[in-house]
Amino acid sequence: MSIVESNCTLAARVAEIAEVAGYLWERGWAERNGGNISVNVTDLLTREEAELPALETRHLPRRLPAVAKHLFFVTGTGKRMRDVARRPMENGAIIRLHPSGEAYDIIADRIISPTSELPSHLAMHDYMRAVRGENTKVVCHTHPTDLIALTHHARFLQPGVLGQLLWSMIPETRIIVPRGVGIVPYEIPGSLALANATIKALADHDVILWEKHGCLAVGEEVIETFDMIDTLSKSAQIYLCARAAGFEPAGMSKEQLEGLVPVFHLPPWQD
Ligand code: 13P
Ligand code: ZN
Repeated sequence: MSIVESNCTLAARVAEIAEVAGYLWERGWAERNGGNISVNVTDLLTREEAELPALETRHLPRRLPAVAKHLFFVTGTGKRMRDVARRPMENGAIIRLHPSGEAYDIIADRIISPTSELPSHLAMHDYMRAVRGENTKVVCHTHPTDLIALTHHARFLQPGVLGQLLWSMIPETRIIVPRGVGIVPYEIPGSLALANATIKALADHDVILWEKHGCLAVGEEVIETFDMIDTLSKSAQIYLCARAAGFEPAGMSKEQLEGLVPVFHLPPWQD
């Protein structure tokens, strides 16, 4: 029997992940196995479930003390988001970190190898747990075509440039992604170098673009991470539509953007 059949709270969280996995596919951001999702589900499992025997144990490339003993739902490596949407427990697994934080057990439902980005995901969960407290439970990585296209231009790799541009396309982007976007220069997918650079960028941002690869968002709810990426993608589309029509979009002025700050209680504008 699947663990979600006996635990309706966990089932509801897994259903949210499946819903968002479907959106990633429908948006065209999840070619083949593109993208991955991990969610800290420690609070959702009973003590008995949390102590299920290990189906398999694997070592981690780096010790993660802040998430020792924590439990995560993680999508499987090579698994398609469109399949996660339909059958999440056949395309993902529940893992439990060892008390040492140096290894993890796959405990349910079956042996599905976690995403190749697990080092990045767990390092981010570890960082978020240590720095932001317990509420930031979700890491969502996907491949949005329009946002990736923009990372192919050297100008947009300069810190702050792309974030300001995307904010300036529509008011919603400033409101829904108030900490803007960080940029991480190209690193090999799944590498510790990518994980480390991403953690650095998380100090200032909830959404990070990986040059020529994709986008990653962290948040409390999986739908919230989707909404941030979706809104940034809308801004990117507006920019690219205007450029395709032959003009540089004016963008909202500094005054127009600043006008949103008191109304929506946003962190102040940064040049
Ligand atoms: P996985 O199939 O290992 O999750 O990899 C997909 C991906 O997007 C790598 O960055
Ligand atoms: Zn990727």
